[in-house]
Amino acid sequence: MKVLVATEKPFAAAAVNGIKAEVEAAGNELVLLEKYTEKAQLLDAVKDADAMIIRSDKVDAEVLDAAKQLKIVVRAGAGYDNIDLAAATAHQVVAENTPGQNSNAVAELVFGMLVMAVRGFYNGKSGSELFGKKLGILAFGNVGRNVARIAKGFGMDVYAYDAFCPAEVIEQAGVHAVANQDALFETCDVVSLHIPATPETKQSINYALVNKLKKGGVLVNTARKEVINEPELLKLMAEREDLKYVTDIMPEADAEFRKFEGRYFSTPKKMGAQTAEANINAGIAAAKQINAFFKDGCTKFQVNK
Ligand code: 3PG
Repeated sequence: MKVLVATEKPFAAAAVNGIKAEVEAAGNELVLLEKYTEKAQLLDAVKDADAMIIRSDKVDAEVLDAAKQLKIVVRAGAGYDNIDLAAATAHQVVAENTPGQNSNAVAELVFGMLVMAVRGFYNGKSGSELFGKKLGILAFGNVGRNVARIAKGFGMDVYAYDAFCPAEVIEQAGVHAVANQDALFETCDVVSLHIPATPETKQSINYALVNKLKKGGVLVNTARKEVINEPELLKLMAEREDLKYVTDIMPEADAEFRKFEGRYFSTPKKMGAQTAEANINAGIAAAKQINAFFKDGCTKFQVNK
């Protein structure tokens, strides 16, 4: 069987070698499509693939139509908003993710960007410290939990809200649970976003919510650009010169945000999971999940049930 790795943003070489070893150990063939620039290349590559490993690559109805042999697509990573789940189900394709495999890498980048923000983007002037500051974590999944762990090392006072995680679970992790996201923004100096992009969360980070942040507040986004209401955040940053926004997902309105020099930073390309360790963990997990699916019909990580 053919296992296609289709990654517009490639895995580290060590991860590709590990995936290849897993795929071949199961008697299958690995086909690589890396750094593709046109959708036509993906449509061509999926034609005879039985399984596919992707990252943020878009798998929509057109891709699924072209993938006549495809039985399973695994998103090597957490967020699967790039897969049209209804279309996958209609095509009888199992869609999976690899939860937790790249979450430490994303959590570490939160602090890379956060230190930079509170130190004035290294402008030579006096900045501030994270020690003793209140950090709010919006969504307490795998990334949020790693952020909490690292924040404690910085001596931060950590708060979290998650609509789907009971307060007791948050408290057991030594984190203050708050009642809702308004309370999180009202309480904290810094809020780090870890919500997925869903119909409910899209554009939910808006003027009214971010305006609740304390003076000198910092918003950190390593989640998805779609959760931000960009026109409203732009309006707020124009009104509040104390606010900073650092993001690992370049906004649509990047050029407009750039006007807030010294208060805004975006990575040019999503870098959160772009470490050798995360690539190896997520890539090999994806290959193992495909092997388990073909061997035993295992669909433990299916997201289009
Ligand atoms: C994820 O959802 O796992 C992260 O956003 C990483 O995405 P990437 O594989 O495109 O870097």
